[in-house]
Amino acid sequence: MIDTLPIRIQATAASRLTELDPAHIEFGKMFSDHMLVVDYHDGAWQEPHILPYGDMAVSPANSALHYGQAIFEGLKAYHQADGSVAIFRPLDNLHRLNASAARMCMPALPEEIFMQGLRELIKLDAAWVPDAAGAALYIRPFMFATDGFIGVRPSDSYRFIIFTCPVGVYYTKPLRVRFEQHFVRSAEGGTGYAKAAGNYGGAMYPSKLAQEEGYHQLLWTDASAHEYIEESGTMNVMFVLDGCLITPALSSSILDGITRRSVLQLAHDMGMPVEERRVSSHEIVAALQAGTLEEAFGVGTAATIATIATVGHDGRDYDLPTPAADAFSRRVSQALEAIRTGSSPDAHGWMVAV
Ligand code: COI
Repeated sequence: MIDTLPIRIQATAASRLTELDPAHIEFGKMFSDHMLVVDYHDGAWQEPHILPYGDMAVSPANSALHYGQAIFEGLKAYHQADGSVAIFRPLDNLHRLNASAARMCMPALPEEIFMQGLRELIKLDAAWVPDAAGAALYIRPFMFATDGFIGVRPSDSYRFIIFTCPVGVYYTKPLRVRFEQHFVRSAEGGTGYAKAAGNYGGAMYPSKLAQEEGYHQLLWTDASAHEYIEESGTMNVMFVLDGCLITPALSSSILDGITRRSVLQLAHDMGMPVEERRVSSHEIVAALQAGTLEEAFGVGTAATIATIATVGHDGRDYDLPTPAADAFSRRVSQALEAIRTGSSPDAHGWMVAV
């Protein structure tokens, strides 16, 4: 694609890069020097500009703060074996952002603004892309309402921003998760498939209760019967049972994860049997009780491939065996990392050079 969009760039006079300690990168605490900002008003997206990362003024009456008219995305850029930088499946994120925007009555973002803005931003902050194993530049695009109006109706104006942060692993240990059998993350017909800010805010209280019981995350179940597994809050969830990779089929209450999509593709490539279907908690608990559940793991941009070590159900904890070196989750994690860092061929055309 030829970059044709005018993007005004105001580069920082004082880079904070020297504050970054590559050996101790914590997820989401440190932000790169610049951000892309694009406003929408009068029915059109305005000229994008890149400026130093920092605070900004917004109307205290905006509908994002009061009614949750806010959506976001998460993707990553990787340091390549040849020293360049490439972004993993960015167009998939744009398409999901626009699906979320439609659900939340927000304007679609044009591809040239997203792609050119993203590339310019990452080019400018390329020195922030960490090159340690497992590290990456996390990219957070988001859009929110900006009208100064407190009536309940979609805003007429919006702001779209992308900022980035160098990150290491999100979960530093194998996870303890438990089934959620009381609270609901999303119901069929709700906003669960969208990356709407409120989905995450609403999940914090049940997650906090689980954390107080010693779990890292919840295994959300369906809103009507609490029987079928949906996802795990910061990630989709997968199981290996009888040599088959099983994951809940997508629905309007489950996020269509891009890592999920990629892992399913790689499983097909590896000849692993795959089932996308309803997965009942009874089936998983029975396999845990019988000791036949081979693997359980979360998949997400931030989470990457996160091993689940313990599953709690009805007050009882079931431990899973530590995945062996040839376990599917380990093999797929290595295959994904090799594609992302350019050390193995990108057969599906997932990487976009900066
Ligand atoms: C991501 O994996 O990018 C997410 O958005 C999950 C979480 C950090 C909110």
